Amino acid sequence: MPRTVIVSNRLPIKIQRTEENLTFQPSEGGLATGLGSIYRADGNVWVGWPGLYVQDESEEEYVREQLAEDSMAPVFLTEAEIRDYYEGFSNGTLWPTFHYFAQLALYDDALWQAYKAVNEKFCQAVLARTGPDDTIWVHDYQLLLLPEMLRQARPNATIGFFLHIPFPSYELIRVLPWRDELLRGMLGADLIGFHTFGYMRHFLSAVSQLLGLPSQNGQVETPTRTVLVDAFPMGIDYGRYADAAVSEQALAHVQEYREALRDVRVILSIDRLDYTKGIAQRLRAFELLLQRYPEWRGQVSLLMVVVPSRDQVAQYASLKEEIDELVGRINAQYRTISWNPVHYFYRSFPLEELAALYRLAEVAMVTPMRDGMNLVAKEFVASKTDQRGVLILSERAGAARELSDALIINPTDTGQLAEALHEALVMPEDEQITRMANMQTLVRQYDIFAWTKLFMDRLAYAKGQQLTLA
Ligand code: UDP
Ligand code: G6P
Repeated sequence: MPRTVIVSNRLPIKIQRTEENLTFQPSEGGLATGLGSIYRADGNVWVGWPGLYVQDESEEEYVREQLAEDSMAPVFLTEAEIRDYYEGFSNGTLWPTFHYFAQLALYDDALWQAYKAVNEKFCQAVLARTGPDDTIWVHDYQLLLLPEMLRQARPNATIGFFLHIPFPSYELIRVLPWRDELLRGMLGADLIGFHTFGYMRHFLSAVSQLLGLPSQNGQVETPTRTVLVDAFPMGIDYGRYADAAVSEQALAHVQEYREALRDVRVILSIDRLDYTKGIAQRLRAFELLLQRYPEWRGQVSLLMVVVPSRDQVAQYASLKEEIDELVGRINAQYRTISWNPVHYFYRSFPLEELAALYRLAEVAMVTPMRDGMNLVAKEFVASKTDQRGVLILSERAGAARELSDALIINPTDTGQLAEALHEALVMPEDEQITRMANMQTLVRQYDIFAWTKLFMDRLAYAKGQQLTLA
């Protein structure tokens, strides 16, 4: 029976080495948490990197066996590949460029060569695990060349590609020395999906201006095939978050946190450590709130979860220092014996504790400088089963296209952000409920299952159309 093979750089399980053994934990990040709910259906397989350097063949064999039990197939990367393909080209070149931080991007041909070689490695791994009738669904910026590589090997394969980060304006893409190859790599797919119409438009414009390929109604005409391009805003497993928020475990955590915080009101911030997330700007806005509105001192705390991420990449390490300093400064200036302005956690939390934090917080600040979608915003909405709570959302997160009932802000405008915090804290309950109910209707309806079905149906349609034309 034909299956769907999901391919992404990171598997939904990450392996870590402790002194005694290897531990298996859920991965963070929207791609892994989002697709984690759906991939196991119908004998599907997920091919990807388990997140660490595996030392020898017996360890590889052990990891392979463990992951196979959960329908995953590992692609092992050497230390040099992790450095040059993952930290280097993927997160040192593509990530900053696609998030409009071009000034941080590295332009190094050696990293590009590693990127090509690892995409080829993934191609061989996928070919070894798929039959001709299987559908191959490739994910994200680490594997932009893979669709075309697979196409060369299997001209008739059904291949979908989804980009989980923004696709930037042509002006950013044109800066990349390898821009044409990257676009051609993506065009190996039958269907290319983005979170928003804006990203899709940028892609079509780049394809037209750089490759001279025309498009009409989201169909790109390459010399050999028609490729369909469309927007599919990714959803979450709504039921999972709504249920977790009222689970016994979460309620016990809420009670415990409430007792510790007494009646202090909670503003929540949750992200991976990343310069795209606007974490430092958010801290400055909270500081400004305490300056402008002294009445909130002693009344409100910012609970900030920062999940360690890509710590071998220079900008991530320096951001960590900046955040440590800002938190230290704010707490040193404003704290009292009985009140802590910022509760800062530099680690990841399991679902039940995240659910408790979502439930506890009256306000969530999701204020990235750029973000493909941002699932934390949607998870907060799904967790608010009593519909109390306010979402402050950056206009530059993909989620802002759908969640227009949030307080939408410009994340670089610290003053506006501080005012939005004040507005959220004084918002009447009936207004909170109206806004939250509207957002819940949308997030519930377009959940991860609806998203997958839309993508898969469209992929089948794209393929069918090609066969008719052939
Ligand atoms: N997350 C997690 N543990 C944590 C903090 C966050 O599993 O301690 C998850 C969170 O629930 C969300 C994902 O990490 O599903 C972050 O996805 P998002 O789209 O917001 O941002 P990304 O990290 O993909 O840029
Ligand atoms: C974002 C990317 C994913 C990535 C995740 C975590 O969500 O779109 O592809 O997996 O961040 O980053 P990491 O580098 O740890 O895989």
